[in-house]
Amino acid sequence: MTNCIEAVFLATTQQELAEQYDKWATSYENDLEGHGGPSEAVEQFSLYVPETARILDAGCGTGIVGQLLAEQGYKNLEGLDLSTGMLEEARKKNCYTTFYQQALGEPLAIPDASFDAIVIVGVFVMAHVRSHAFDELIRITKPGGHIIFTLRPEFYANTDFKAKMDALQADGLWTLINVTAPFHGRFKAHPDVNLQVWVYAVNAYNK
Ligand SMILES: C[S@@+](CC[C@H](N)C(=O)[O-])C[C@H]1O[C@@H](n2cnc3c(N)ncnc32)[C@H](O)[C@@H]1O
Repeated sequence: MTNCIEAVFLATTQQELAEQYDKWATSYENDLEGHGGPSEAVEQFSLYVPETARILDAGCGTGIVGQLLAEQGYKNLEGLDLSTGMLEEARKKNCYTTFYQQALGEPLAIPDASFDAIVIVGVFVMAHVRSHAFDELIRITKPGGHIIFTLRPEFYANTDFKAKMDALQADGLWTLINVTAPFHGRFKAHPDVNLQVWVYAVNAYNK
């Protein structure tokens, strides 16, 4: 388990990261069984997003979050990920209608205002994607829609996440709806990791 986690942390290029996730895909769920993030994010999600919503699970991985959302009654689920191997595992869940193999943090080939809600779990946590990815995520979310994600408290405070999230609010692009208290990440190999779930409502988007 540790080797796969360390390998994704140590990847220096996006291609290397995708290859490491391809290798990890079939054992990922077993290795991270019970990890924090998916259930807490889905709990927050279900407070704000109606069952009829068109939803993007961004960085869907093997589809843990999609499966939990499907169990809550969400049917209009689409998944996006960088890794072919992770997407193959997500397909087996039979809970997503559409898949996108694209990179968060780069321009997305998805029209403006496509989704009612976007959920991103474990992607910012692992520091794979930097805060500028929010610009595209806001663009593809409908005004009034929600963006719900997990983040480590120290990443929020010590990287540019806080400044970026505050700037998007100051610019009127989104509004903070809720942030949970920190909870334990339950990563066996990284027992010191805490997480929070952030919930934003999108106000507008840049053309
Ligand atoms: C730790 S896993 C989280 C997966 C899933 N959301 C979960 O909670 O189990 C991180 C996922 O993000 C994907 N990923 C990493 N960088 C990405 C990027 N730039 N764009 C899209 N997906 C990315 C990886 O391929 C991997 O599937």
